[in-house]
Amino acid sequence: MCGIIGFIGETIKGTVITDALKKLEYRGYDSWGTAFLSENKIEFFKQTGQINGIPEKIKKINSSLAIGHTRWATHGKISKVNAHPHVSVNNDLALVHNGIIENFSELKEKLSDKNFFSETDSEVILKLIEEKVNSGKSLFNAVSESVSLLKGSFALLVFSSKEKDKLIAVKHESPLLLGITEKGIFAASDQIPLSNFTNQFVFLEDGDIALIEKNNFKVFDFSLNEIKREIIKVESEITSSGKLKYSHFMLKEIMEQPFVLKSVLSQEEKNFNEISSLIKDSNLFFIGNGTSFNAGLFGKEFFSRIAGINPQVIEASEFPYVLDFIPENSVIFALSQSGETADVLDSVKKAKKKNLKIISMVNVFNSSLARLSDKVIYLNCGEEIGVASTKAFTSQVSLLYLLANSVKGNFNKALNELNELSFKMTEVIELNKNSVKELSHKIKSSKDVFFIGRSLNYGVALEASLKLKEISYIHAEAFQAGSLKHGPLALISDNVPVVVIAPKDKVFSDTLNNAIQAKARGAFIIGVSDENNNEFDFFIKLPKVNELLFPLISIIPLQLLAFHTAVFLERNPDKPKNLAKSVTVK
Ligand code: G6P
Repeated sequence: MCGIIGFIGETIKGTVITDALKKLEYRGYDSWGTAFLSENKIEFFKQTGQINGIPEKIKKINSSLAIGHTRWATHGKISKVNAHPHVSVNNDLALVHNGIIENFSELKEKLSDKNFFSETDSEVILKLIEEKVNSGKSLFNAVSESVSLLKGSFALLVFSSKEKDKLIAVKHESPLLLGITEKGIFAASDQIPLSNFTNQFVFLEDGDIALIEKNNFKVFDFSLNEIKREIIKVESEITSSGKLKYSHFMLKEIMEQPFVLKSVLSQEEKNFNEISSLIKDSNLFFIGNGTSFNAGLFGKEFFSRIAGINPQVIEASEFPYVLDFIPENSVIFALSQSGETADVLDSVKKAKKKNLKIISMVNVFNSSLARLSDKVIYLNCGEEIGVASTKAFTSQVSLLYLLANSVKGNFNKALNELNELSFKMTEVIELNKNSVKELSHKIKSSKDVFFIGRSLNYGVALEASLKLKEISYIHAEAFQAGSLKHGPLALISDNVPVVVIAPKDKVFSDTLNNAIQAKARGAFIIGVSDENNNEFDFFIKLPKVNELLFPLISIIPLQLLAFHTAVFLERNPDKPKNLAKSVTVK
């Protein structure tokens, strides 16, 4: 993971780099650092923790060549020395890296200088380049020869104070793009930090080395053949990247969800029809991680109930192990907000080698996953910055509903339903925003919180428990309501909160019975339903909707519950510990 940024061009303030880096913090926020070319020397800064309060030195710096990094530790503990940039012994080379170098120990053995400042795999890359530069090679040749020796994933930015008109960027299995502006060229892990500067991007491909100068760039492969890479203008649907009136991005993103449903209206029917024909008679596999995996569970339900297709849903990190056993006419449907999650990309690349068709549902335009896919549905829900996914989930689930309907020729009918639902969603927020805050106060000192549901609503239980655990650090787990009695009931004691997701549908009374069994052992029952019941100790009131769409409204108060609990516990919901939004390592 980690986020990287670089710039070469006219002189800019140091804070341009730290501001951009802050927007990359969702990729990792254990530590951060920057390196600037300043009066022909490299000035660098490193700090552990998040970017809070920019050092005076950076505020005073003006520079025309700079790099920055925000870290999610993989090799080496969280410390100032392990933070990037790594700088050479002579202080003339600086490098930032996102990825993992698998053969770093072998390479270390071969290096003549074994004095490392840090415990990172990344410093090995710097040392390789340093040796070659010291033997008289140009920076570009030193970098290209060095990267040919690396195994693993790497997005790199390197510069030298001795060749101050160049910034070198290398991409291999970690995301990297260039942002073209009138004042110079940026390189960054994604488009988000550059949204104030440009909408013109060059999406580098694996195996690209870019030689970037103030006003132009050239791209080569590792054998130094020049490659043409186009500048692509991204017409952005992106909403404001600020928090607006909200205290946190997560809260803003939760509140944006009614609009996310409305944005579904801009989906093109033609794209849905083409995808429908591809999947109609196929063996369909949904893959994804985290919240995107959970969204896939709803895809499975919608496709089997609406379209008569019975897909499988497989966690992307497990998918390579089943690939040998899946039929030839299979279609892989990859779900990913970022389009950069390593497990998903790995699975998709392996599936492509077997000539399987790839369809993806992605938020980030032209992300690696989008580029690997035969067909793409974009979420169009705007930037999602909070590490815990909220509006992207809503977008994924509603688009899967639309697609399942489209297979049956009901695209427009489903569009209207989703449009209607956006009003209900606003109602849900209004109905519950204060009471859920109260509830979070009640559960904040619980050791465990359980979520139960049957059928479709088990998926809601899974997603709601993921939200609570990832941002509040309270142990939260989801169970199929009927399975409580086969083990989990042993965990219930006085006042343990059990959230029961149970609309008044065919399975309501069965689910309620399971809630009663928990209540008999002391549980505090939180009912999430369109009808109140005496057994509920706390009621989250939802309007009546089509039962297939209930998950789209029931998840909202549960996202809010997770949010307020985290805030009460003084945990930053936007940046939970140990996690990152875009997980680009396997
Ligand atoms: C990380 C994030 C989750 C996200 C998952 C998949 O674990 O913390 O919020 O759901 O990655 O991300 P993707 O971008 O592939 O949807």
